[in-house]
Amino acid sequence: MKRIICKNYDEMSRLGSYVCAEQVWRKPNSVLGFATGSTPMGMYKCLVDMYKGGMVDFSGITAFNLDEYYPMSKSHEQSYDYYMWDRFFAHINVKRENVNLPNGGASDPQKACEEYENKIRLCGGIDLQLLGIGNNGHIAFNEPGDSLRVRTHVTELTENTIAANARFFECRDDVPRRALSMGMGSIMQARRILMLISGKSKAPVVKQMFSGVVTPQIPASVLQLHNDVVVLLDEAAASGL
Ligand code: GLP
Repeated sequence: MKRIICKNYDEMSRLGSYVCAEQVWRKPNSVLGFATGSTPMGMYKCLVDMYKGGMVDFSGITAFNLDEYYPMSKSHEQSYDYYMWDRFFAHINVKRENVNLPNGGASDPQKACEEYENKIRLCGGIDLQLLGIGNNGHIAFNEPGDSLRVRTHVTELTENTIAANARFFECRDDVPRRALSMGMGSIMQARRILMLISGKSKAPVVKQMFSGVVTPQIPASVLQLHNDVVVLLDEAAASGL
């Protein structure tokens, strides 16, 4: 894993946007994997600015998001579908039919996961997958202790994740207990991975992730086994290294 320590959140976001844009310049029909959470918001804003400045063209890309709460309607303000359109997709020229998120409204979630995984395969796999990290080391919604081989699946959120994500909902009870998430097996298939990590609260998990030990208790530690990962950290997140 290559790690680059950035001065602050803005520098991390800018550098992250260059990595994504460079992927699109090199391969205009790239398949890009996107992530949600507070961390990539700055990077999406930089990419929108680059698009508006005529520096990058998203018309050929296909997008797959990592995860979605379940059950969750697309129109809910806390759905990842809403997040992505609100902050990114609506402001660039990606084709609507090329945008994919796990379907939080599916009546058969298991089947929806299988279809999602098949669609990624049919599109040729993910060229560049963007990732964030949860305080407990989760990636997407692959929680500590989950199998490292699974593909897109229905998962139960841990109490830790529910508590961490409650800040986006009116109260903790409103946070869905389940999610549809790409598995570590799907994520590890991506050709390149870009992870963004910001803030002091992530410093302890960053330390564990880079410890050299690969363990399902810290899902992010598995990335040590991938041969093309770039981790962009701000100084606060890297303070424990
Ligand atoms: C959620 C998402 C993850 C994300 C994590 C961290 O749980 N499912 O994909 O990485 O939050 O979010 P934040 O960037 O807000 O710390």
